Amino acid sequence: MSIDPELAAVQGVAFVDGTYMPLAEATLPLLERGFLRSDVTYDAIHVWNGKIFRLQDHIERFQASIAGLKMSLPYSAQEIADIVTECTRRTGFRDAFIMLICTRGVTPPGTRDPRLCRNRLYAYTQPFARIANDAQQRDGLRMILSHTQRIPSAALDQRIKNFHWLDLTMAQLEAYDRDADIPVLPTADGAITEGSGFNVFIARNGVLATPATGMFEGITRRTVLEIAASLQVQCEVRAVKGEELDGADEIFISSTAGGVTAVTQFNGKPVGSGKPGPLANRIHELYWQRHQDDALNTVIDYTTEPV
Ligand SMILES: Cc1ncc(COP(=O)(O)O)c(C=O)c1O
Repeated sequence: MSIDPELAAVQGVAFVDGTYMPLAEATLPLLERGFLRSDVTYDAIHVWNGKIFRLQDHIERFQASIAGLKMSLPYSAQEIADIVTECTRRTGFRDAFIMLICTRGVTPPGTRDPRLCRNRLYAYTQPFARIANDAQQRDGLRMILSHTQRIPSAALDQRIKNFHWLDLTMAQLEAYDRDADIPVLPTADGAITEGSGFNVFIARNGVLATPATGMFEGITRRTVLEIAASLQVQCEVRAVKGEELDGADEIFISSTAGGVTAVTQFNGKPVGSGKPGPLANRIHELYWQRHQDDALNTVIDYTTEPV
């Protein structure tokens, strides 16, 4: 089979329902409900300096998402850990981004019953790519409060990691239209939730706040909460109203794809001094320091024989 020219430049290794292969050659069956119905869950993990950050936490969360969608896989947590490690080992990448995906699978002919599908595991490792480019990391991101609302958790439990991303994607496009880099999406009653692949924190008078509900509970968000506790900085996990972002001293986002990144403009106006603030800077620094902590990082042995 010839490789699609758009994929020819893609680097990485995939695990497709039992088989390892170059990422550029990995494909899905067209009848896969993960593709046709967004009937799928996933987790995104990163590798830094040859170590996988918080692997067990990611796998626990992935398994909780699978259970939340009434799916199951014939792999233990250890076997899933071995698969993502093996994908990464085969790439040789020291800094990488790993996707773990569980799909519903293909419905047998003549039925639409999702219970009859064999759920499938896909995984792949690619080079690391950040949400923010170098200039944005240095100077901060420009954020808007989007008109597009986040799909409510009453309709779709946002703690289950999902690909119902059209609200996030339309809000991202709205951000570009409004000369900004990223959106934060509100609920119907004006509380903020999250953006296209990240959680949001604000700081006012030395106190942090982040939404409690309506969004995905990021592992980076969890790490930020732990860092704030270690710094004895109070962090309120509560409903955060959109208006609060107007008066914030600092805003920052948290995500596997880049860690902690300051937001220096909100709805066209500077946040605080208009430069990354001291809390965002300090938490960013401590976040990367945690990548040296043996308890949080799984070392990849790049020399072992392939599985
Ligand atoms: C919608 C959404 N919110 C938040 C996050 C941040 O989660 P994490 O810190 O685990 O990357 C993600 C990550 O992909 C996401 O997709």
